[in-house]
Amino acid sequence: MNRKRKKPSGISSLAIVSAGSLFWLSIGIASADDVAQGKSIATKGITGQAPCMACHGANGEGMAAAGFPFLAGLPAAYLEAQLVGFAQGRRKQAVMEPIAMALNAEQKKAVAAWYASLPPVINPGRAVQLQDSYPKGKVGAWLAQRGDWSRALPACVQCHGPGGVGVAPTFPALAGQSAMYIKNQLLAWKTGTRADDPHDLMAHLARKLTDEEIDAVSTYFGNDIGAVAVSATTTQKPAKAGEQQ
Ligand code: HEC
Ligand code: HEC
Repeated sequence: MNRKRKKPSGISSLAIVSAGSLFWLSIGIASADDVAQGKSIATKGITGQAPCMACHGANGEGMAAAGFPFLAGLPAAYLEAQLVGFAQGRRKQAVMEPIAMALNAEQKKAVAAWYASLPPVINPGRAVQLQDSYPKGKVGAWLAQRGDWSRALPACVQCHGPGGVGVAPTFPALAGQSAMYIKNQLLAWKTGTRADDPHDLMAHLARKLTDEEIDAVSTYFGNDIGAVAVSATTTQKPAKAGEQQ
């Protein structure tokens, strides 16, 4: 169900991946029945709640202009954990909280399995190519690819994979999410309204980034890499640079 993704390079990220897998042990493995039940929840919704696809798109591709993230192809364990986080108030967000609370544990697992089974929004090979050809001097690209060791900031791609394509089961894709959504998440960690990441990894990083750096790195993954690398398998239209800021 999770498609194969490139393993991150570097000893530090390997250590983090194994620490991350311990975190995920508490989350179960999905079956084909889960996927079918998940499809029904995504398309028809559950009593009293809008169907997921009304906001996350017919193919899980999201709606970039509205700040609704894509879910297609994200790791099932990650998606399930986010639903638990919204339901338990560790990820505070007015729209998703009541929806996640209305799903029981089985339904959360099922709908996560369905979205994980869909083709990813981005074409991973293209995202890596774009990363390699993009000028590295700009702040966003620099942080994404090199980090800033003078402040103990690792490069984003060390955990999120080359081109920000994601590394299952722990690290979600960044490339292809809208710049607005990425920025909102970094600000949520900085201000403490998103506080359910394993080992405080993201909150710790976000607190070190200035607002200008958050803008720059969000634009880099959202527009410079992601919007261009959107795969032809979904209907999402690439956003134009700067449109979402
Ligand atoms: C009314 C619109 C709306 C509906 C309906 C909706 N969502 Fe969402 N969803 C959002 C928004 C907005 C966010 C971004 C929240 C944030 O900024 O933290 C989101 C975020 C998420 C995330 C986090 C994604 C990530 O990359 O971390 C998951 C998982 C999710 N939704 C699953 C679902 C599921 C499953 C359903 C159906 C049961 C659903 N959503 C229905 C608007 C919606
Ligand atoms: C040390 C590893 C690590 C590094 C380095 C890292 N991240 Fe993350 N990131 C994570 C983990 C783990 C998650 C999943 C958090 C969760 O499960 O709630 C995540 C999630 C995210 C998300 C949420 C995506 C979504 O779908 O909601 C964003 C946005 C993000 N990271 C941006 C960045 C940016 C930008 C950088 C570089 C400045 C970066 N990350 C560097 C570990 C890392």
